[in-house]
Amino acid sequence: MSVDTTASATATNDLSSFWMPFTANRQFKSAPRMLTRAKGMFYETSEGRPVLDGTAGLWCCNAGHGDPRIVSAIQNQAAELDYAPAFQMGHPLAFTLASRLAQLMPGDLNRVFFTNSGSESVDTALKIALAYHRVRGEATRTRLIGRERGYHGVGFGGISVGGIVNNRRFFGSLLNGVDHMRHTHQPELNAFTRGQPEHGAELADDLERIVALHGAETIAAVIVEPMAGSTGVLMPPKGYLERLRSICDKYGILLIFDEVITGFGRLGSSFAVERFGVIPDLVTTAKGITSGTVPMGAVFARDGIYDAFMHGAPNAIELFHGYTYSAHPLACAAALATLDIYRDDKLFERADSLAQYWEDAAFSLKGISNVVDIRTMGLIAGIELSSRPGAIGERAFEAFLKCYDKGVMIRTTGDIIALSPPLIIEKEHIDQIFNTLAEVLPTIA
Ligand SMILES: Cc1ncc(COP(=O)(O)O)c(C=O)c1O
Repeated sequence: MSVDTTASATATNDLSSFWMPFTANRQFKSAPRMLTRAKGMFYETSEGRPVLDGTAGLWCCNAGHGDPRIVSAIQNQAAELDYAPAFQMGHPLAFTLASRLAQLMPGDLNRVFFTNSGSESVDTALKIALAYHRVRGEATRTRLIGRERGYHGVGFGGISVGGIVNNRRFFGSLLNGVDHMRHTHQPELNAFTRGQPEHGAELADDLERIVALHGAETIAAVIVEPMAGSTGVLMPPKGYLERLRSICDKYGILLIFDEVITGFGRLGSSFAVERFGVIPDLVTTAKGITSGTVPMGAVFARDGIYDAFMHGAPNAIELFHGYTYSAHPLACAAALATLDIYRDDKLFERADSLAQYWEDAAFSLKGISNVVDIRTMGLIAGIELSSRPGAIGERAFEAFLKCYDKGVMIRTTGDIIALSPPLIIEKEHIDQIFNTLAEVLPTIA
């Protein structure tokens, strides 16, 4: 029996069953914002209204929407090989994709473990870190260190090392043996900085405090977002990541960069690893790897980490970890087509060349009442609003609703507006985003 997926068959007035993620369900269901199509830089709503995508979906559609090269790659792959197990079996695209990714990633981060999301990439990286120390005979290294305000997805590993209070407080005691460094947001020193802030490199020394407290021999890994996205776009202070790297080296602690947002061109470079010139031991990615078309994530590990596992009986499984959909053929096909587009259309270079225009447009909002900070890098911007007393997030949410009504999709976290458009954006779209915000923000009391 074929399934009728025509618009009339799927149109429904009953919104009750779908428990929407990270959503004010009652608010949404009372006034739905329904997206039904997407092409290039625009979504189309169920009323047929275009909405400019100022956020690349959820920081993921870096190649824009509906590129026929990705669409046909997925279609063809579905017909050719719909699924193949990745446990004790392989299919060629998985190996090709891993090699292509390794070529794109700087340094010796050449080994690629496939997952289906950023959250799974984070759990995978944390597990690899723990297992790595154990296979090398350092089984006391079990502590995982995150950072306040960090976002590493929603698995128990990710929320444990994460530092966003509402993502943690409802879910019990989380993983034990986790500690957090201080966050790097110092608006009193760094407000309205273009690019990396001057102040805050010394905040990396907070890791020294944690080492002194617990003992280096108990610590497996430190995970940070090189640019913290979901907490509201916090750039790393100048020298901060370098300092973190050297403290990790000093104590034999693995450094994990969570590049789920910063990977694949967002900062005008392949990865933050390239942009900041700091090589961590593991890198987590997802989102832009397939330009958001098919769920996929990937963890990059340095050669030495992979090599540490390649011992023991040759027929023995070296790492007891993996997902049914690791290296799913449709995701691999989508990722390979996406990487071709990034290369052929020079989208990372494009993001870099538009960054100045983007930054100037963002900073044109300076001076509007309630705008207390603006932060930019590559094709990303954070616009921080002061909060209404006792009503954190309301101002920004109002801006979100008003921008949507005016045909621009923005994203908010607390009272911070986070912008991250597809890398195919044109200057006229940049103007539309910031002109709309310039109209909307002064109307919000
Ligand atoms: C830095 C970072 N890590 C992990 C995740 C989780 O990714 P996912 O929602 O695909 O699980 C996100 C999502 O925004 C993220 O920004």
